[in-house]
Amino acid sequence: MNGKILVTGGLGFIGSHTVVALQEKGFEVVIIDNLSNSSIDVLEGIVSITQKRPAFEQIDLREKAAVKSFFEKYTDIEGVIHFAASKAVGESVENPLLYYENNLSTLIYLLQELQEKSSANFIFSSSCTVYGQADELPINENAPVKKAESPYGNTKQIGEEIIADTCKVASGLNAISLRYFNPIGAHPSAEIGELPIGTPQNLVPFITQTAIGKRKELSVFGDDYPTRDGTCIRDYIHVMDLAQAHVVALERLIKGQENSNFEVFNLGTGQGNTVLEVISTFQESTGANLPYKIANRREGDVIAAFADTEKANEDLGWKAKRSLADALQSAWKWEQKVSKAEE
Ligand code: WQD
Repeated sequence: MNGKILVTGGLGFIGSHTVVALQEKGFEVVIIDNLSNSSIDVLEGIVSITQKRPAFEQIDLREKAAVKSFFEKYTDIEGVIHFAASKAVGESVENPLLYYENNLSTLIYLLQELQEKSSANFIFSSSCTVYGQADELPINENAPVKKAESPYGNTKQIGEEIIADTCKVASGLNAISLRYFNPIGAHPSAEIGELPIGTPQNLVPFITQTAIGKRKELSVFGDDYPTRDGTCIRDYIHVMDLAQAHVVALERLIKGQENSNFEVFNLGTGQGNTVLEVISTFQESTGANLPYKIANRREGDVIAAFADTEKANEDLGWKAKRSLADALQSAWKWEQKVSKAEE
């Protein structure tokens, strides 16, 4: 490996954990982040874990000229892992154009630069949200992509189509789209983790903020679903396992092991857990008390989603290793660290 790896959104939740995993595998990393949904402190957290300082460029990828000049400055980019995007489902419904501009124009500007290179390896951060409520569980990569429930989900679907079409004509471009299920947890050092801005939309940060006392109680969005305990089922995957999958996928492209120039992989544990099971696992594994109530269903929630992991296990040679309890304990340790720093 000789070229640098560009990680866009590299100071974000999954991005920062992936930078750590890349550095630990010996890759030289350049981070682009516009700090709109992250903090420069995350860079120090990465350095404190790996003792290696990645190059950092504060760039807004919506500025086409800035993207072009980045690639004029860094002529030895061997791979790109593209995390930078807006990702709040609810916000995307209220402000669709923000999502279409931020999530799609940035992708297009990156691909316009990469298609000019003789060889480029591109990894796209996608989501199981593209499947909507799948007809069959567990969900494999051949499951139909359904009409997205939100502009956010639509940008992931359209993004994959843009990449697939570009790969057909850009002979040197090879790409992998990674469809995440539900990323949770934090690095065991508690030097980096999830930093939701404002009220957390996602379950696990809301759990940890409630348990630490920042929130009064957790609302469980519905217990009348057709599941084993009435609450929705998701596939919660430790962010460290997810980060490792990005390293493995990148190496697959660099080594030219891909089966086609655009591949898709579902990244989950293959295990589904209900909201109530997450709550009980959290309390049992941390000893923390979690006040919660049953509330109304949340618009747009699917009943159940968990991954068929066979393709990732077989073709990527990757399998999630950490348990739900591991992830929840690491999220709790991170919350305690963040809250202490806020005192
Ligand atoms: C999980 C479960 C909620 C909060 C979304 C996006 C996905 C990805 C992850 C960006 C659901 C329940 C939640 C709460 C609750 N986003 N819940 N009370 O909706 O599966 O996935 O976030 O990358 O693309 O679709 O994740 O954590 O919001 O919800 O009961 O306060 O927890 O109803 O069943 P979701 P989530």
